[in-house]
Amino acid sequence: MRKIVAGNWKSQKLMDEGLELMRAIAEGLANHPDGDTTVLISPPAPYLALYANELRKTTSSRKLNLSAQQCAAQGFGAFTGEFTAEMLKSAGIQHVLIGHSERRDGFGESNEVVQKKVTRAVSAGLKVILCCGEHLDRRQAGEEEAWVEGQIQSALSDLSPEQIQNHVVIAYEPVWAIGTGETATAQQAQQMHAFIRRLISNITTPEIAKHMPILYGGSCKPSNAQELFAEPDVDGGLIGGASLVAEDFLAIVAASDQA
Ligand code: PGA
Repeated sequence: MRKIVAGNWKSQKLMDEGLELMRAIAEGLANHPDGDTTVLISPPAPYLALYANELRKTTSSRKLNLSAQQCAAQGFGAFTGEFTAEMLKSAGIQHVLIGHSERRDGFGESNEVVQKKVTRAVSAGLKVILCCGEHLDRRQAGEEEAWVEGQIQSALSDLSPEQIQNHVVIAYEPVWAIGTGETATAQQAQQMHAFIRRLISNITTPEIAKHMPILYGGSCKPSNAQELFAEPDVDGGLIGGASLVAEDFLAIVAASDQA
């Protein structure tokens, strides 16, 4: 089953506010136990272990999964301020976003750094949501496919097809649509997702590509989720702003469940 909806909280919410939001989301999911979408939230790193403990206490039949928003490119060592993929795993976290455009643009994460982080996260046993996407100038120049191909080829270059199959999800997020209120049209999203699936097929096998979840991100909200998720290669969403309001996030999950 390819359907995934993942919330990216970014640097938002104090710990108690986030806990309340997480509980509201968990409760909303419990009310729809038959939904077939895998649901994740990515709270700020300092809260993850506590939230993981909190979720362990719930007995809901519908699981809410936690993801980190990034991890270090290194393993253990003298790297003040960094946290490693192994640390996340030991704190009960199973997923990590890597290569978000805000990390690439604001924190110097080149394709090379992203590749190191992906490789480390996969060898620690985490599932990676690999983010890719072009800036507006690339799209205007008709270079969006080449750009995204470069990001994905590089990020996955150290992984075997089996590792990609078991540990990687792709999130296509056109940078011009992130937090701007501007969404790619369903057709634009479908075109890029189909391109990405062909690329994964070339890197791995057609069978692996067929089962690879490819999520759309960039101003996805309750009002456009249904249309986006109706596209054959759009398997769900990576949701920023709308993941901070339980009602909106749950409406997006419901749109995915119904897709
Ligand atoms: P947005 O963010 O939904 O607020 O556009 C998406 C993301 O950055 O993952």
